[in-house]
Amino acid sequence: MDNIEKNYEDFISTVSHELRTPLTSIRGFSQTMLSSWDKLDDESKKKFLKIIEEQSNRLIHLVENMLSVTKLQSSNNFIFNELNIKNPIEQVIAVVKNQYPSHKFEFNYKNNLPNIFVDKDKFQQIMTNLIENSAKYSVENSTTTVTTGVEGENAVVEVTNLGIGIEEKDYDKIFTKFARIDNPLTRKVQGSGLGLYITKNLTEKMGGKISVSSKPTDNPNISKITFKILLPIKTIEEQARIKCNQ
Ligand SMILES: Nc1ncnc2c1ncn2[C@@H]1O[C@H](COP(=O)(O)OP(=O)(O)OP(=O)(O)O)[C@@H](O)[C@H]1O
Ligand SMILES: [Mg+2]
Repeated sequence: MDNIEKNYEDFISTVSHELRTPLTSIRGFSQTMLSSWDKLDDESKKKFLKIIEEQSNRLIHLVENMLSVTKLQSSNNFIFNELNIKNPIEQVIAVVKNQYPSHKFEFNYKNNLPNIFVDKDKFQQIMTNLIENSAKYSVENSTTTVTTGVEGENAVVEVTNLGIGIEEKDYDKIFTKFARIDNPLTRKVQGSGLGLYITKNLTEKMGGKISVSSKPTDNPNISKITFKILLPIKTIEEQARIKCNQ
């Protein structure tokens, strides 16, 4: 079996497993409700319906992420334009804040930040994945900080949160397909393990780089986790060249 075939088989078996788990629980709870309707009190019925709803949401999220992965194979669906990143980041923060109302957000925007040359939707997809993760994997009542800056020819965006640290040996692993780190915080929240794989691919397709670092804090159980993306600030000439190839 060649490598492509092996990757394909691995992908199919992981996907089948990921689809099977929520489907099995949707079927199980529906069957129980149908067969024992009269014996169940309202409280239990509500609890079962809640599980069915959650598992359906999990399936939708998984299918959406898998579609994003499929789209990564074709590189011609990028529309590059000049972009000031302030508004798109503010929009993403507002959306994630809505999903995580008790989580706090801080946005340190540098005023003189040059425009970057990217696909706006893809840039927002990158920021959504990183900012959603930071809220999802944070200790309670903490703050996500988004900071922008310039490093050489690149614009830099850093997303920082306080959570259970990521060991250095897992820095590369978390950017691969279906990779999740097993710890009490990850177990508590759902995820397909595709978010960072998609994020890394999109960043690199726009000429950028992504990295992670996890630093200890005064509290031995809490680390400061930072995801950093670099996106190139193109000269007018480079922009024109990219536009010509679009
Ligand atoms: N900000 C973070 N703090 C701590 N751990 C993180 C953070 N972001 C990601 N991780 C770890 O990396 C793993 C992979 O993240 P990724 O976004 O790819 O998948 P997911 O969040 O589990 O699922 P999905 O994003 O597809 O819904 C997570 O399961 C978690 O263990
Ligand atoms: Mg994620």
